[in-house]
Amino acid sequence: MNILNFYYSQTGNTGKIATTIGVTLQSLGHTVETLHAEKDLDINFLAYDFLFVGSGVYQWLPGKPMLDILRGHRQKYSDAGKIVPCSPRLPGKKAVIYCTYAGVHTGINEAVPAVKFCAQLFDHLGFTIVDEWYFVGDFKTAEFIKGNTGGRLGDITGRPDTRDLQDVEQRVRAILKV
Ligand SMILES: Cc1cc2nc3c(=O)[nH]c(=O)nc-3n(C[C@H](O)[C@H](O)[C@H](O)COP(=O)(O)O)c2cc1C
Repeated sequence: MNILNFYYSQTGNTGKIATTIGVTLQSLGHTVETLHAEKDLDINFLAYDFLFVGSGVYQWLPGKPMLDILRGHRQKYSDAGKIVPCSPRLPGKKAVIYCTYAGVHTGINEAVPAVKFCAQLFDHLGFTIVDEWYFVGDFKTAEFIKGNTGGRLGDITGRPDTRDLQDVEQRVRAILKV
């Protein structure tokens, strides 16, 4: 199976998840291309059978490079006639969308828009969104670090941690059987 592992990570948390996804897929014998969202990246998403797409959450949405790439590709695919009413399914094409988030104020609710936003390009193209994953990711910078304790999710220092990454591996192994 031809798999794309596409992510955006500003402070490294989503990068840890993406690395675990990539390593797990390779250990299972799959061909996987891992790409970090950078300005002006042009990706042929339709060339892949399975997409893993993830981002850190920034003000309820994916980070700006991911946001811009998804918006740009929506326009590109729309212009090319690949986005049509009713979004018919593309047989065999699947996607998992995930995020890392801190949830300080409203818990998972402040991460849901990011995942829903990221999913829509692929749902519009006809990929079946087989799952949405939410992983906790702590703050790294002095400005925000007090958010690692006392938010809705309690003490999130050090997340994603070893257990979170084991969870990622198990989820990847399981989702490929869907
Ligand atoms: C400026 C800023 C804004 C953030 N906004 C949100 C947010 O709206 N909701 C949320 O749950 N977490 C928010 N976070 C926490 C990040 O989503 C979390 O730390 C994530 O794991 C970062 O991922 P990354 O290291 O892959 O970039 C924010 C963090 C920063 C620094």
